[in-house]
Amino acid sequence: MSDIDPEKLPKHIAIIMDGNGRWAKGHALKRALGHRKGVESVRTVVEICRKTGIDVLTLYAFSMENWFRPHEEVSALMKLLAEFLDGEVQEMMDQDIKLMATGKIDSLEPAVLRKLKGAMEKTSGNRGMVLNLALSYGGREEIAMAARKILSDGLSGKIKADDVDEALFQSYLYTSGLPDPDLLIRTGGEHRISNFLLFQSAYTELYFTSTLWPDFREEDLLEAIAHYQKRERRFGRISEQL
Ligand code: FPP
Repeated sequence: MSDIDPEKLPKHIAIIMDGNGRWAKGHALKRALGHRKGVESVRTVVEICRKTGIDVLTLYAFSMENWFRPHEEVSALMKLLAEFLDGEVQEMMDQDIKLMATGKIDSLEPAVLRKLKGAMEKTSGNRGMVLNLALSYGGREEIAMAARKILSDGLSGKIKADDVDEALFQSYLYTSGLPDPDLLIRTGGEHRISNFLLFQSAYTELYFTSTLWPDFREEDLLEAIAHYQKRERRFGRISEQL
């Protein structure tokens, strides 16, 4: 914690939690048990972000593409999500954490969607931190969805073509109202974005670690934040202008 400058914290951290399957394989376990172990890392990261003073934490919990995984794995992930929602709402209330979701959540199983909406409703007045779960999420789908809604509002006369700028576009995304991520962490050793927050991550600092998600702990998160704090964010300008 001592390496972290409280004045230079990222406001929004987004995480691609990769490596659950490989972790399970390495421990001769079924993939679902890798995901179950991954939930422990989720709890740790939420707790540390809240303690550190991060405003928004977005976790890529289930992508649009994940629907194409074997049925057994999709069911296991939905079960874990339902358990997480049942088990953590009280903790979110105690920690003043507001739960949000980003993605095509109407595709979730009705029972899971009900729990998700219930938890979002219950925590909606909390102000300490936003925990934003990306669920049934794809960056390209999100951009297409926003374009569809903008066109529809244009056709009904609500907006004009000239109104469409970056800020308006942003207001049609699932993440409307949230700041763009400052730091994007991907665990599991792959160096790619995998359709995550494509519009929002234009100037996000990227941090890749080979640590598998179930092994990701407090010190790994603090190391990522410390790395972020050493970077110079120029947003297209030069050092002298900052
Ligand atoms: C990627 O690892 C991870 C996922 C597809 C799911 C992430 C889900 C969790 C951590 C648990 C559920 C989350 C919540 C918030 C309750 P992978 O399976 O692609 O790993 P691999 O690349 O090693 O196969």
